[in-house]
Amino acid sequence: MRAIAVTPGVPGSVRLVEMPSPEVSDVGGGRGVLVRVLRVGVDGTDKEINAAEYGAAPEGSDFLVIGHEGFGQVEATGPNVTEVEPGDYVVATVRRPGGSIYDLIGTNDMTTDSVYYERGINLRHGFMSEYYVDDAEFVVKVPRGLKDVGVLLEPMTVVEKGVAQAYEIQRRLRVWRPRRAAVMGAGTIGLLATLALRLRGLEVVTFGKTPKPHLNAELVEALGASYVTSDELPVADSPARFPGGFDLIFEATGYSPIVFDSMRALARNGVLVLSSVTGGDRRVEVPADRINLEFVLGNKVMVGTVNANREYFEAGVRDMSQAELEYPGWLARLLTHPVRGLENYRELFDKLTAGKGAIKVYCEVAGLGPD
Ligand code: BGC
Ligand code: ZN
Repeated sequence: MRAIAVTPGVPGSVRLVEMPSPEVSDVGGGRGVLVRVLRVGVDGTDKEINAAEYGAAPEGSDFLVIGHEGFGQVEATGPNVTEVEPGDYVVATVRRPGGSIYDLIGTNDMTTDSVYYERGINLRHGFMSEYYVDDAEFVVKVPRGLKDVGVLLEPMTVVEKGVAQAYEIQRRLRVWRPRRAAVMGAGTIGLLATLALRLRGLEVVTFGKTPKPHLNAELVEALGASYVTSDELPVADSPARFPGGFDLIFEATGYSPIVFDSMRALARNGVLVLSSVTGGDRRVEVPADRINLEFVLGNKVMVGTVNANREYFEAGVRDMSQAELEYPGWLARLLTHPVRGLENYRELFDKLTAGKGAIKVYCEVAGLGPD
């Protein structure tokens, strides 16, 4: 079968490769699920893997099949799989278990191991191929009614985990009634975070870079949230406009200095969730005493979040279902840049790196079919 792969360590090495098709029996215990890939989304992680900033091939392979935002249809299942059947739409989780106690209880996303295994990212082939096989444990069913937007589930899980962690942490307060949230960034993750927080009934202010009119701003406003640019309202000064600050802040800009501005915009007892993977070496000067003082006197929390386990994929399915009922057609508006066929991987990467107005760039590996 055909797949899109890179040679880790070699910048710009993305290419088409031929490899053996996987089989259900590749997974032990009769628990294999063979999936025909329909769509695969790409994001900054893929860009950075092709730039050879990180990424590692599985042992014994000199290439890494990319793609961690998969969406496909079950083709066949092993004899001990009861959860899904041929024809079902599915998305597979990304991280595979290591050895820490967190991995042993199904929370691989919380591993304390220094080596981690992520399909399409680190030491495991990804989904940008005609087929893949995985253990039913890692395969999550997507309702038929979400098939058009199913490729957004993996990015949605990043948000689900961050928000769930925030609520879990806030149980420290015995009672927490968050009213106002801010989302830093209006890219795919920022937009999905805005959605998740609106679905939970919060007033949301989303900070972007590009002035209106702008599709991302329109999408924010379509959810009943407010869009502001950080030029028009510097984040650190935002409590002047939103007195008391924000009860929950979700950071998803990819620009680390905004973290310290966000710390200053957090309400008393508030929680700041950091989700940007920033590989650079940026330095900033910050009003350290003041930020520290306000954190201490305000009992504030800041938490990092990466990846997502099965639980968050299931939560993502529920939120996306609710979104389709509450904001019909909204999710599909994020699918701005489709590229048909694995062979057009160059166009895929061109759109990813320079696509005008791109929100979600994805490869249509195969058609979705009639049902
Ligand atoms: C993926 C996560 C992954 C993270 C770090 C993100 O792009 O969506 O699943 O854990 O990169 O590798
Ligand atoms: Zn990603």
